Amino acid sequence: MKSLIDTLEIKGTLSKEEFVELLSGYTEEDTEYAREKAAKTANQYFDNKVYTRGLIEFTNYCKNDCYYCGIRRSNTNVVRYRLSDEDILSCCEQGYELGFRTFVLQGGEDLRYSDEDMIRIISSIKKNYPDCALTLSIGEKSYDSYLAFYKAGADRYLLRHETANEEHYRKLHPASLSLQVRKQCLRDLKAIGYQVGTGFMVGSPYQTADNLAEDLLFIKELSPAMVGIGPYLPHHDTPFAEEKQGSMELTLFLISILRLMIPNALIPATTALGTIHPLGREKGIMSGANVVMPNLSPVSVRKQYELYDNKICTGEEAAECRFCLQNRMHQIGYEIVTARGDFVPLQ
Ligand code: SAM
Ligand code: FES
Repeated sequence: MKSLIDTLEIKGTLSKEEFVELLSGYTEEDTEYAREKAAKTANQYFDNKVYTRGLIEFTNYCKNDCYYCGIRRSNTNVVRYRLSDEDILSCCEQGYELGFRTFVLQGGEDLRYSDEDMIRIISSIKKNYPDCALTLSIGEKSYDSYLAFYKAGADRYLLRHETANEEHYRKLHPASLSLQVRKQCLRDLKAIGYQVGTGFMVGSPYQTADNLAEDLLFIKELSPAMVGIGPYLPHHDTPFAEEKQGSMELTLFLISILRLMIPNALIPATTALGTIHPLGREKGIMSGANVVMPNLSPVSVRKQYELYDNKICTGEEAAECRFCLQNRMHQIGYEIVTARGDFVPLQ
């Protein structure tokens, strides 16, 4: 296994068979070996700096019905909300004071927002905070919509592919959604010029080592600026309520693998990782991640954006999370920086 990890470090990839071998036969010693290499690589590119993004969950309405997601359309127990333009701007104002220079607008696929609405929101954030980057994470749109948002000032886009395997995709989503469309969206976003982020849940129902190998190869091919992965965590009001959660160890191992594959990538230590273990985000950073994404949404709505059970930080104010994370990073020898933290392509 160690020689596979050495090869991965040198070549930045492995064959599908090699990835499958690595992911189905690794030991704790192997994960530690990969972790050390990944942490060293992250340090070479980013020193001990951790970028921070202020996450604004502005709507929990969604037209989709993904079987794993707590805010899926069919979950009638969710109290739905939308933040007004003023609410969103006041989250940015608070965030800016706390040192955030990237805002992430995330939401369900909410049909109430027309392109004009999104353009208005994007333009006003960029007008008020011209020195900040704006990331969108609002799902699948047409090429023209993505282009219009980009022209309005959006810099980055997060759209996890969820799984690169057709059959697996079918098991996680209703027939109205397709992997082909998802992949096309990612290609469109890249072609337009966004810094693009993709990713997947680790341990989602029916996932195999073979699927994960395909995820890694898809990511290698797409060559995104950002890769977000986190453990799958069940939500009690979904068809997957009884499925078991993903593994923290495998998530950390995959973060290390991704760091070795794309040394300059922006890789978050996700909220899901912080939910599965009290020190999950710290472990993520020590395994090669270099971004944290604390929540800037008003506390009054946080509990309603529950993608999975027991999500952390639903009762904390933005400032509390900001300083909590700062302390957490300090304790492991890292430092949160006030910078946009753009993707820097390799020479
Ligand atoms: N609607 C946008 C989209 O589809 O890209 C953004 C919001 S969506 C809720 C954000 C991400 O949450 C998804 O890409 C998915 O990977 C993750 N997610 C959803 N349900 C989850 C669960 N039960 N456990 C872990 N992650 C989950
Ligand atoms: Fe929210 Fe620690 S990050 S309380």
